[in-house]
Amino acid sequence: MTTLTPILSENWDRTDSYTLDGYRETGGYQALRKALDTDPDAIVDQVKQAGLRGRGGAGFPTGMKWGFLPDDNPKPRYLVVNADESEPGTCKDVPLMLANPHVLLEGVAIAAYAIRSHQAFIYVRGEVLHVVRRLRQAVAEAYEAGIFGNDVLGSGFDLEVVVHAGAGAYICGEETALLDSLEGYRGQPRLKPPFPAVAGLYASPTVVNNVESIASVPGIVANGTEWFTAMGTEKSAGFGFFSLSGHVARPGQYEAPLGITLRELLDMAGGMRPGHELKFWTPGGSSTPIFTDEHLDTPLDFESVGQAGSMLGTRALQLFDETTCVVRAVGRWIAFYAHESCGKCTPCREGNYWMVQVLDRLERGEGTEADIDKLLDICDNLLGRAFCALGDGAASPVMSSIKYFRQEYVDHYEQGGCPFDHSRSTLWG
Ligand code: NAI
Repeated sequence: MTTLTPILSENWDRTDSYTLDGYRETGGYQALRKALDTDPDAIVDQVKQAGLRGRGGAGFPTGMKWGFLPDDNPKPRYLVVNADESEPGTCKDVPLMLANPHVLLEGVAIAAYAIRSHQAFIYVRGEVLHVVRRLRQAVAEAYEAGIFGNDVLGSGFDLEVVVHAGAGAYICGEETALLDSLEGYRGQPRLKPPFPAVAGLYASPTVVNNVESIASVPGIVANGTEWFTAMGTEKSAGFGFFSLSGHVARPGQYEAPLGITLRELLDMAGGMRPGHELKFWTPGGSSTPIFTDEHLDTPLDFESVGQAGSMLGTRALQLFDETTCVVRAVGRWIAFYAHESCGKCTPCREGNYWMVQVLDRLERGEGTEADIDKLLDICDNLLGRAFCALGDGAASPVMSSIKYFRQEYVDHYEQGGCPFDHSRSTLWG
């Protein structure tokens, strides 16, 4: 039986968890001291050996990404934290930054030192003003305490850190669109390669990492790689937030080793809401193919979820019970993607628009038999053909819901309307 591993969330119950004093009282910034006495390359190696994989969704090895920065490029190196969390269902970075901004800032200082960067940016969603304010306050405290600025903690290492509030576009969470936005342009994805590691912010070598990835670094430096690899699985080491939302008795953040199952998480979360059963769920936000109750025992690590036909993504577990119409739920998600599509590429701009039309008319009972094939055809033109991951993300819930719940789509046009009583569901207003 897997148990929870409250590490990043350990001190969230302290009323002063977000202050520099509160963080220091619980051992904060000791890892930075240790790091500053270590060779930067040794820290990169340590993060590689720990097997930390990106917590923003893609799971790319963090240490390897740091190691991609070219040695022969004289331009300044940048560290950029992607704090633009906005995948539907994804809600882990915001509470982390609110409750414990300093663990992120300690991670920023260690990561910047490790990659030999003297300028870091934290790109945070502008709409979550309380987080922007909290981060700015924490950064000011860190400057005041000599943690940022010239001669970090007397080490001779200089580091400037800027909190940049984005203007609220989902696409700006895509790392290259984020860099465009940070440079002052309209956020649109760039063609990769070159990856940011080679030509990122201002065409300079840039590491872009998710909040949770960077916040995991101080623990690795303080406790060692074996501490980290003792948790999780061989290829998906460590721990992470599992964000349970929807029709669950006790929604919230469950910090646990990778490889835990939804069945185990549900046991801890009091099960589905009383009297109801799990119908479908997302393992990692709405851009990952949905799962059903068949997958309750799938270990939630990158490999196992992939083998079962989905992606671990951001571990945003949105749970839906039998009162939920899958066509309507998927329609909501696609409306989001259509709204947030930046419009740069045709498959995403047009594909999402047309999927909304088809899903809407199916839900209203005005669809036809041809509509399911039409949806699959649009997905076929999206998957792997859009400029960035947004296109694949939008195709995922449509294709997987048709795979598992085709009959429910059929019922909509055969019965001339939605077979569900939406007043029974807590999801629809
Ligand atoms: P990706 O797999 O293209 O890249 C992942 C990271 O690895 C990037 O930082 C990329 O620069 C780096 N990388 C990959 N190959 C590289 C190479 N050969 N050389 C140097 N660096 C390399 O995935 P992407 O498009 O960055 O992210 C997609 C994921 O984002 C999805 O799986 C989804 O789960 C997640 N996502 C998360 C959201 C959130 O709110 N946290 C929102 C939307 C999507």
